[in-house]
Amino acid sequence: MELLAQSFHMNKAVEGTSYAKNSSIQSKIISITKCITEEAILEVLCKNLPESMGIADLGCSSGPNVLSVISKITNIIYAKCSQSGLPKPPELRIFLNDLYNNDFNGIFGSLPDFYNQMKEVNGNSFGPCFIFGVPASFYGRLFPSNSLHFVHSSSSLHWLSQVPPELDVKASTAINKGHIYICESSPQNVLDSYYRQFQKDFSLFLKSRAEEIVPGGRMVLTFMGRRFMDPTIEEGCYNQLELLAQALMSVAAEGLIPEEKVDTFNTPYYAPCPEEIKLEVEKEGSFVMNRLEVFEIDWDGGSAEASNTVSMGRRVAKLVRAVIEPMLESQFGSDIMDYLFQRYEKILDNHLSKTRSKYINLVISVAKNSEGLGN
Ligand SMILES: C[S@@+](CC[C@H](N)C(=O)[O-])C[C@H]1O[C@@H](n2cnc3c(N)ncnc32)[C@H](O)[C@@H]1O
Repeated sequence: MELLAQSFHMNKAVEGTSYAKNSSIQSKIISITKCITEEAILEVLCKNLPESMGIADLGCSSGPNVLSVISKITNIIYAKCSQSGLPKPPELRIFLNDLYNNDFNGIFGSLPDFYNQMKEVNGNSFGPCFIFGVPASFYGRLFPSNSLHFVHSSSSLHWLSQVPPELDVKASTAINKGHIYICESSPQNVLDSYYRQFQKDFSLFLKSRAEEIVPGGRMVLTFMGRRFMDPTIEEGCYNQLELLAQALMSVAAEGLIPEEKVDTFNTPYYAPCPEEIKLEVEKEGSFVMNRLEVFEIDWDGGSAEASNTVSMGRRVAKLVRAVIEPMLESQFGSDIMDYLFQRYEKILDNHLSKTRSKYINLVISVAKNSEGLGN
């Protein structure tokens, strides 16, 4: 079974399908949660202003969202320091993490403009700010012990470290035929496999961050989720992945891809409900939950693209393609991708003509216990 750390990445900068050009939903999510981020950073600063502050954005990807997150975080810090009349802001160590295949060079190339902009906005408050790239999986240790004060992650933690072993392409029997994630008719063993993988991954994530974050440090994590315990009810499962499975099955019915390839393909994704998150945080024991909120966002993120020139199905298909195409290519080959996404677009248009679907997102803000590590 393949770990995703070596192969997973968003669509790179080619033509119109790149993540950099199709990340408006994720950008909106960052804006919606900005006040929670600000609240958490101010809590860190008012407890004990560190001389050197470690900040990490986990699953940063590339494109405009990365540096927009970092400028939001640094602006909050500099504004607070200047309001409080501090002679010197803390030295900032900023770590941008993603998997090995992420386009880190793209980020580094935009740093000179970023630094200039930061100097313009913050004037004399702009202090030493060191930016590092950290390529590795956030499901494991990334940083030295007690080195981080604030951790941010947006639209990334719904990706599992791997497809659950029972659903992996190499499993002896296909137990989720015709689907690529949990759906309304999923048998219990499919639900159990996904939930087990989520528990394993999320608890490892918490345990790793618990070692790295100083007592009193904070994390703000935003990811796709669901509202209700039952993952098979429509909100949790009748989602874009089920419609994508329908597109794959219809392309298979035309003989353009083998149906067995659809039957054995599953997505390394899990949209947890609030209770599942709370349970893992409590079990791990190093963090106190300050906030856990649920919010909705339109499937096209309320895209500004003129809706009378581009159908909603097309806009949504482009956003999904930017994230999931590399994964589909490795199973079905790249030649079929344009055709598949045209089919997907039609299925989405039909679905969206009947209902206005929303993504459900969860955002949590947690603080590391001052007593230290949990269980
Ligand atoms: C949809 S993008 C979100 C990017 C960015 N945070 C934003 O809001 O625009 C999800 C990112 O998470 C990264 N990712 C997924 N699993 C990861 C893991 N285990 N460790 C580090 N990064 C991961 C992906 O490579 C991808 O770049």
